[in-house]
Amino acid sequence: MDVELRELMQAFVLSDYQVQEVYSRFCLEIAKGLRRSTNSQSNTKCFPTYVQELPTGDEMGKYLALDLGGTNFRVLLVSLKGHHDATVESQIYAVPKDLMIGPGVELFDHIAECLAKFVHKHNMSSAYLPLGFTFSFPCVQAGLKEAMLTRWTKGFGCPGVEGEDVGRMLHEAIRRRGDADIAVVALLNDTTGTLMSCAHRNPECRVGVIVGTGCNACYVEHVDNVDLLDAQFKRKEKQIIVNCEWGAFGESGQLDFVRTEYDNEVDRKSINRAQQLFEKMTSGMYLGELVRLVLVRALERNAIFKGAGNRRAEYAAILQHNIDIFETKHISEIESDTFPELANTRRIIKQLFGIEKASVEDCQKLRYICECISSRAATLVAIGISGLINRIADRKVVVGIDGSVYRYHPKFDTYIRNTMHKLVKSDKEFDIMLSEDGSGRGAALVAAVASKTK
Ligand code: BG6
Ligand code: GLC
Repeated sequence: MDVELRELMQAFVLSDYQVQEVYSRFCLEIAKGLRRSTNSQSNTKCFPTYVQELPTGDEMGKYLALDLGGTNFRVLLVSLKGHHDATVESQIYAVPKDLMIGPGVELFDHIAECLAKFVHKHNMSSAYLPLGFTFSFPCVQAGLKEAMLTRWTKGFGCPGVEGEDVGRMLHEAIRRRGDADIAVVALLNDTTGTLMSCAHRNPECRVGVIVGTGCNACYVEHVDNVDLLDAQFKRKEKQIIVNCEWGAFGESGQLDFVRTEYDNEVDRKSINRAQQLFEKMTSGMYLGELVRLVLVRALERNAIFKGAGNRRAEYAAILQHNIDIFETKHISEIESDTFPELANTRRIIKQLFGIEKASVEDCQKLRYICECISSRAATLVAIGISGLINRIADRKVVVGIDGSVYRYHPKFDTYIRNTMHKLVKSDKEFDIMLSEDGSGRGAALVAAVASKTK
């Protein structure tokens, strides 16, 4: 690779020392999050989810589910059929951009309206239906049914919801309409849904990870290590799923020694400045934006499209004036390309700059930029997963993962495993499985647990 570009991208390449250092700082942060006395100083809040029973596979029943906080807002109908089996029907509904930052009550009215439409379409308006709500934002829970939003993340910012119980807000919106008999029986994070849906198929699953629009993980912890949990929840069950909210890691400066000027700029332009710094280096909402910023710099330094002469300045201007023009899915498409056609890369370059047939050299350079950014993201995710696995007593741990970055990027899984091989303790064995429908099957499983423990 061209020396200039290599130099430019060096900031994204983590050395072994940096990986170890981030790993130690991450482990410390989780330990702080779990202790009552240090939780307030910790970025990773390690919320107890009150999910203490993993699925047996025998669960039965029909449940409604809602999924808010990923790429799509969905309403789902899940039938748990025993024998580790489930069927899911779902419908995607739009959440208009203005609702994502408008008054919270309007957002919940919209959710209730979509729910009512779905129930009506399936001729279930008169049936009593328990619902599991996958609400993928940081929440303090007081039980399975209560979840108080601590902060919006991922581009949402509706006033009037932070500090409120989102279960109650949904319940009230459903009651205001009065056209369906739906009981919100459980609230869960998407990482919990992922873990539960994977554990339904593989009982060795102990960690649930999302690398999608946002990035986060949960894992199964021994109750004695979860200081924040009241004694009554420690009597019967000895384990509980903890939602780490690791996206917030770095907010006390722990990642400053590896963050780049581009990371700073992504943060500066975001609606949640100085928050979710780990998430801003790892998740789909930000990775494309990082590539865009690096590409501007590469053009300015004449490190790419060298043959374009004066037009380089035009290309840089296009990128500068069009935030979000380089989408995260382009990274996956570019890294999936095969030589010599490089069809995706050429199509994307044409879309961006109108260049008819980009040279092999320029295609390879763009790919290199993408690789440096995606492999850094995967390395950081792997650091987090390894830290959690090393806390778990079981010798073998299966990790369930979901989210568009992990699912569609051709090498994210390989990148993750490579770093995990370096960090997971040598007496342990791990595997990774792709989650199927955490917010459907997983939410129904949590709702099933909630119905049992009522
Ligand atoms: C989905 C899960 O498949 O992945 C959701 O069912 C989750 O619950 C989502 O939020 C995360 O990925 P993305 O890429 O849609 O943010
Ligand atoms: C954000 C949210 C978190 C969620 C993650 C993945 O980090 O705060 O709750 O799990 O995105 O969707």
